[in-house]
Amino acid sequence: MCENSDAILLGAVGGPKWDQNPPELRPEKGLLRIRKHFDLFANLRPVKAFPSLLDASPLKREVAENVDLMIVRELTGGVYFGEPRMRTENGAIDTTVYSKAEVERIVENAFELARLRGGGKLCSVDKANVLETSRLWREVVEAKKKEYPDVIVEHNLVDSVAMKLITNPGHYDVVVTENMFGDILSDEASVITGSLGVLPSASIRGDNFGLYEPVHGSAPEIAGQGVANPAATILSVAMMLQYSFGLKEEAAEIERAVSAVFDDGYFTADLARDGSRILSTNEWTDKVINEIDTSFVSQSIMTTYI
Ligand code: IPM
Ligand code: MG
Repeated sequence: MCENSDAILLGAVGGPKWDQNPPELRPEKGLLRIRKHFDLFANLRPVKAFPSLLDASPLKREVAENVDLMIVRELTGGVYFGEPRMRTENGAIDTTVYSKAEVERIVENAFELARLRGGGKLCSVDKANVLETSRLWREVVEAKKKEYPDVIVEHNLVDSVAMKLITNPGHYDVVVTENMFGDILSDEASVITGSLGVLPSASIRGDNFGLYEPVHGSAPEIAGQGVANPAATILSVAMMLQYSFGLKEEAAEIERAVSAVFDDGYFTADLARDGSRILSTNEWTDKVINEIDTSFVSQSIMTTYI
């Protein structure tokens, strides 16, 4: 089905029901296979402060309010897919593997984004004081930088970035890193702005095809209670309109609608605080749907997708 589609919208996967399954039969494995199969090597995870969510941030308002960064995570290489990989009686092996070409294409993607976003700053994250793959990564960034004299580049070690994302997140614009570091840093960065429940992601490969999914997991502990935050999934649809269908204004309208519902003081339970109005997942979604200016939605999308 995915092969015959122009884009994939994916719900979060995983849960205790499958925890006892052998690794090959876990839903996470299916997600990783889809990413690999379609060569979706560039995972874009934007982290932007919604002003009305800042009270839910664990950081001080003045630290969190200027955050507008994009994590560009390599998604189809590194330790997630490297061989050998095995479990023996007395140990286990995972292997981090990167080819130069794999690093080049993601780094190029990040440079292009840094250029497009206007901020023009690129932070490349590695562990070059320890890892060979990181030394290769750093070399590739240094070589690519010559083609982008307008982009300011810095190299930073992943442990240091983990700290600075908390002490000074406003410093970052585009952050590019390998698969595993990107997985960890994107969860960390997500809470800066209030809730992991509001962060979308796009996994793309350079043409229009892409997979769109919330950054958060499936949260099985709250399943069926109507307390999940649908914002990340709704915003993932906005990213889909933008990247796969070139519908930038429609994407911006969805983002505006989400922001407006927050500004009106409506939240799901994860963002509850004094004076806020808590809605169920469905009620909150209806608010967003009502807020979207449909007269604005262009004819092309109406005829194709409705
Ligand atoms: C993510 C998730 C996945 C990952 C899991 C579910 C395999 O944590 O998309 O960040 O590690 O890539
Ligand atoms: Mg993750």
